[in-house]
Amino acid sequence: MGDFIPVNEPLLDGNEKRYLSECIDSGWVSSDGPFVKKFEKAFGAYLGLPPGVSVCNGTAALETALHALGVQPGDEVIVPSFTIISCALAAIRLGARCVLVDIDPETWCMNVNDIERKITSHTKVIMAVHIYGHPVEMDPVMEIAEKYSLKILEDAAEVHGAEYFSRKRGSRWLRCGSLGDAAAFSFYANKIVTTGEGGMVLSRDPDVLEKAASYRNLCFKPEKRFYHEEIGYNFRMTNLQAAVGLAQLERINEFVAIKRRLGEYYQRRLSEIPCLHFQKEKPWAKSVYWMYAVELNPTLELTAEVVMARLRERKIDTRPFFLGLHAQPVLRELGMVHAENFPHTDAASRYGFYLPSGLTLTESKIDLVCKALADSVKDRF
Ligand SMILES: Cc1ncc(COP(=O)(O)O)c(C=O)c1O
Repeated sequence: MGDFIPVNEPLLDGNEKRYLSECIDSGWVSSDGPFVKKFEKAFGAYLGLPPGVSVCNGTAALETALHALGVQPGDEVIVPSFTIISCALAAIRLGARCVLVDIDPETWCMNVNDIERKITSHTKVIMAVHIYGHPVEMDPVMEIAEKYSLKILEDAAEVHGAEYFSRKRGSRWLRCGSLGDAAAFSFYANKIVTTGEGGMVLSRDPDVLEKAASYRNLCFKPEKRFYHEEIGYNFRMTNLQAAVGLAQLERINEFVAIKRRLGEYYQRRLSEIPCLHFQKEKPWAKSVYWMYAVELNPTLELTAEVVMARLRERKIDTRPFFLGLHAQPVLRELGMVHAENFPHTDAASRYGFYLPSGLTLTESKIDLVCKALADSVKDRF
């Protein structure tokens, strides 16, 4: 598409083709092939955890993980208002209710100071959703979870390789996805490690892993096939997907280094444009800048939609921010969200969008994007 700058392009020029050929040559194309186990082991090891439970996408990973953590009808799950609907669906499908918390306007991650007042006798899990590459402040979340005996599910779809400095866990840097009782990853095509579509549940708790593995595979009993004592799903990942995933994972350090380098460059260039807010790395965070996102200051009197259209005219692809879960018509109709205000989420949804962010981006393309962005808002000051 000529000089069009896409929001994302995966880098698939490592061992992906070779491993895929191995699957095809050997005939192992279902979830029974050897790459599935290899990918699960390698991804778990990357996080310092036992092998994960691979699934068919990140949405399935969230539901499988919540199920494995014991969420049942009538339970409540604390979820940030600013996230993808997958987080709410995972709870709803298990008959649980989502209780929303607004975001910290600086990081767009859940406001950890808003969690405690939302806890009731029904609360079971806090879902900590790391946003656009930047971690949630996890120590306070862990403290609240301990105080009220709650479980933590990290949604780590957007933070492959990001780290959090945990004072609570021995004052050291730990990878996002290894901090809670379980974590859900997505390997959708725009994620840092991709399998096209795919996901994984991680945990250090063997019971959670065993349950997740069973739910993902229709709750077949290993010792008595076609005999079922529980309701499961077919959420299996194929050997073909895992082959791509393993090849991608071999390069994760390189990918994270690219994302951080480009992220830092973007930050320098974006800070030259007045009236823009973007995620600044907190001292306790190592962001992977999964998406280079900006929020326009309302004083510009320009919405994200208007600026995105201006950028599209200049062949620059962008994506809007999430609409808050509290504003989703389907969740409101179902009575699944309560009538509270989430002003920071609303502002982010109205004024936020993300810029080209793929691994194939270059500094000169970032210059073009930032110049176009500056031109698109300059009539306002
Ligand atoms: C924070 C978050 N959670 C969950 C998901 C769902 O993942 P998937 O698209 O693989 O179902 C996404 C998807 O992009 C996401 O950004």
